[in-house]
Amino acid sequence: MLNKNIAIIGAGNMGTALIRGILAANLTSPQKIFASGTRLEKLETLQKEIGIAVTTNNKEVAKHAEIIILCVKAYVIRKVLEEMREVLHKDQFIISIAAGVTTESIEKLIGKNIPVVRCMPNIACTVGLGATAVSFGKHVHEKQHDIAVKIFEATGEVVVVSERHLDAVTGLSGSGPAYIYMVIEALIDGGVKMGMPRDISTKLAIQTVLGSAKLVKDSNVHPAILRDQVTTPGGTTINAIHELESHGLRSMLIDAVATATIRSKELSELINK
Ligand SMILES: NC(=O)c1ccc[n+]([C@@H]2O[C@H](COP(=O)([O-])OP(=O)(O)OC[C@H]3O[C@@H](n4cnc5c(N)ncnc54)[C@H](OP(=O)(O)O)[C@@H]3O)[C@@H](O)[C@H]2O)c1
Repeated sequence: MLNKNIAIIGAGNMGTALIRGILAANLTSPQKIFASGTRLEKLETLQKEIGIAVTTNNKEVAKHAEIIILCVKAYVIRKVLEEMREVLHKDQFIISIAAGVTTESIEKLIGKNIPVVRCMPNIACTVGLGATAVSFGKHVHEKQHDIAVKIFEATGEVVVVSERHLDAVTGLSGSGPAYIYMVIEALIDGGVKMGMPRDISTKLAIQTVLGSAKLVKDSNVHPAILRDQVTTPGGTTINAIHELESHGLRSMLIDAVATATIRSKELSELINK
């Protein structure tokens, strides 16, 4: 248990997922979590449901927190840091999940030597199966490093990367759920095209993606080997694989990650200007 006061600035989709993960992992108690947002009504619903403290005053939550997690959109970062700046001190540390905003920009906006951790989680954090990459600003010490990793481990898998890789992380696991939703949707339609009821097709498509991912993870076997193991000579799967290769499935996905990475870099340059 960390047992620290944690402020969540921006209790939206990701902020709420983090709060739930932190509580489920018993990292701190609900009484030590303070969440902020702009709509009190929405915050009070969260307060009733999980017993945390809520407010629309970012400065107030920042004052009492040991860890401050910025879960607002990138364009709000400057505003919230300006609001909190005067109460921030070096015994606190800041974690930001805002896409594209560099640790250097945050450090400059704060204007004090406060440790800043930058993370890129994904939406699967909401079901405890997130993929989060964590990188560290220049004032971060080992202890804060471990705490940040622990917090995100409460929502899934964590990797530590150099900050220069965060655009590629965004292109792969940040945007990745959208690619997989398209794959699931297409598999469902494939089943429907072949005459299967949609609900049955949906169940099979989802479980196929879930089970295949779990098998790669649990077996630690390269996906190409697992694919070979289910490909009977002259059978159905090799015919389907040939079709997928003819349409360039793998090149398409590689290009998708590459193009999203480039876009992430462009947006990041605009944000940090
Ligand atoms: N969603 C993803 O898949 C994903 C993945 C990786 C990273 N991220 C990053 O996570 C961050 C949050 O994304 P999200 O999807 O959780 O967005 P979201 O659901 O819109 O949450 C943002 C929250 O910020 C609050 N907010 C807005 N202005 C504020 C202010 N001045 N002070 C305090 N709170 C304020 C909003 O409150 P109100 O609703 O009350 O205005 C809202 O609850 C973004 O920076 C995004 O880049 C998201």
